[in-house]
This record gives sequence, structure tokens and C-alpha cells, in this order.
Amino acid sequence: MGPLAVELLGKTLKNPIMNASGTLGYGIEIEPLWNIETLGAYVTKGLSDKPHHGNKTPRVWEERYGMINSIGLQNVGVEHFFSHYFPFFVEKNLPVIVNFFGFTEDEYVYCARKIPSHDLIVALEMNLSCPNIKKGGISFGKDAPAVHNIVRAVRETTPIPVIAKLTPEVKNIVEIARAAYEGGADGLTLINTMPAAIIDTKRRNMPLKGGLSGPILKPIALRAVYECYKEIPIPIIGAGGIMNVEDALAFLMAGARAIQVGTATFVDPFTMPKIIASLDSWLKENACAGISAITGIAHD
Ligand SMILES: Cc1cc2nc3c(=O)[nH]c(=O)nc-3n(C[C@H](O)[C@H](O)[C@H](O)COP(=O)(O)O)c2cc1C
Repeated sequence: MGPLAVELLGKTLKNPIMNASGTLGYGIEIEPLWNIETLGAYVTKGLSDKPHHGNKTPRVWEERYGMINSIGLQNVGVEHFFSHYFPFFVEKNLPVIVNFFGFTEDEYVYCARKIPSHDLIVALEMNLSCPNIKKGGISFGKDAPAVHNIVRAVRETTPIPVIAKLTPEVKNIVEIARAAYEGGADGLTLINTMPAAIIDTKRRNMPLKGGLSGPILKPIALRAVYECYKEIPIPIIGAGGIMNVEDALAFLMAGARAIQVGTATFVDPFTMPKIIASLDSWLKENACAGISAITGIAHD
């Protein structure tokens, strides 16, 4: 492993760059452009116990400095992913983080149970932005006791490390991160999208409401990473508006062990390979022996 290698939850990744869940399909779609094994790890589209069709169109909207999506968690279901798509990652020998969700606590647990232990599976990433249909649709991730309970329920279900992916739509993200940690989370992904909407002034309606992503999220995500790094002693994966190597470095310096790139891939599908190559050059130019040496240095 070279100077970009990082340790994450007992595995060594060849670099700290991953796609953000839901922004790189099932991995094979990018193959005509670049090889998926360029990444340190692949993060799956959010998977659920049963398949989901997702929302009607329009599902994405370009905003100034960002994008709103309302995909509605469309996915093929956890079993189909493992029978049809996972063998591709085994062939590529690429570590995988399995993003998953449910609309009840039981659905999270059923889904987690179906995820097999495998050398290439680094962790399960729990999408906690999901609405809890038993609590009037309020997302699990907005309430510290709910986060604690659901993380604990999943942790007790699986021997695979569990990463809690948090929503920024909270008063105090450190408090939510602590609830996840105390519930047994082995890592954190910070952050998911922010609720947002657009209005079509000609049609006088709201054609789309969903999650806001992209550059507009970056300062919010950076602050979440910075604050949680100081307080919570588990590895952090940073996500939110990372568009280039400067953004990636900022997240690593704020305390992220690894980073995820989402919306930037819609702007330039080569963003991730470009960031990896630029990080390598940055290490050489700065006479830095390894990328993990810069994790959290903005705190010193
Ligand atoms: C089209 C789209 C689909 C997404 N699907 C998921 C998902 O299935 N599960 C999840 O946890 N996050 C999902 N996200 C959120 C991203 O993984 C990421 O946390 C967020 O977009 C912030 O990163 P970015 O600004 O680099 O896009 C999705 C985002 C987009 C834009």
C-alpha cells in the first residue's frame, strides 16, 4: 500500500476516497469511464430489506451551488444486490461499505441481518435520515434516544462494524453523534443531505422537494466533522460538497479519516480519480510521507 493508504475499521484502504451513497449507481455504470477499483472503497446505493421503486419524476433539480434530489431511496433490495452486484466487487477485490435503511427499527434490523460477513465488507453505513413511519415520519436521525436505540439494535444484530450516517437537520450534531457512539457505532459519516424545495413560478407549484447536496453543504459538513472529531473517539468519513482536492484536504484536516464524493460526480464524472491523483501530488509537494498524517491537523 502506498502513501495514500488509510486504516478504517480494521481494514486498509489504498486511498481515502469513496463515492457517496446513491451517486455512483451499483458501481458498474462508471466502468466505461474509469475503473471502480481506483477508489479506496465503494459505497452502495442505500439498500433495504425489500426493493423500492422510489419517487415519481422530477427527481433531481440543479440549484445555484447545489442540487436537490428526490430519488425516494429506489433500490433493488439487499438480497438482489448480494446475488447480482456484489460478485463484481469481489472480482475487483474492492472494499465495500454497505449503505442501508429502513422505515421502522425492525426493517433496519432485518436488512442488516441479510448482509453477509465478507473480507471485503468494511462496514454497514446506516442512513439515519429515513422517516420513521411509526413516529409520524420524523427521521430517526433527528432524535438522540432514537439514534441510540436503532444503532444498538443493529449493532447487536451483526458482527460487521457499523457506521452511523447523520443528517445535518439537527440542533446539535455532536449530541446525535454521541448517541450513535454510545449505541455502539464504530464510525460516523458526516453528513447526509439537507431538506430543501424549489418552486416553479410559471406553473405556480412545487415540482420537487428533497435533499440538498453539493458545494452549498460544504461549510456545514466541515463544521460537523470538526466538532465531532474533538468529542467522539471513532473514525469519521466526511461528505458534503467535496468538489476538488482542496475540499478533500479541508475535510481530512478537520478530522475525517476518509471522504465521500457525491454531487461532484454529476458535474464531472472524473472528479474522484482526479482528486486521488491530486492528493498523491500534494503529498509529494508537501514532503508528507502519508495521508493519515494530516487527519485532524487543523486542530493542533
Ligand atoms: C442522487 C443522490 C442519491 C443519494 N442517495 C443516498 C442514499 O441512498 N443513501 C444515503 O445515505 N445518502 C444518499 N445520498 C446522500 C449522499 O450520499 C451524500 O451524503 C450527500 O449528497 C452529500 O454529499 P455531496 O454534496 O458530495 O453530494 C444521495 C445523494 C444524491 C445526490
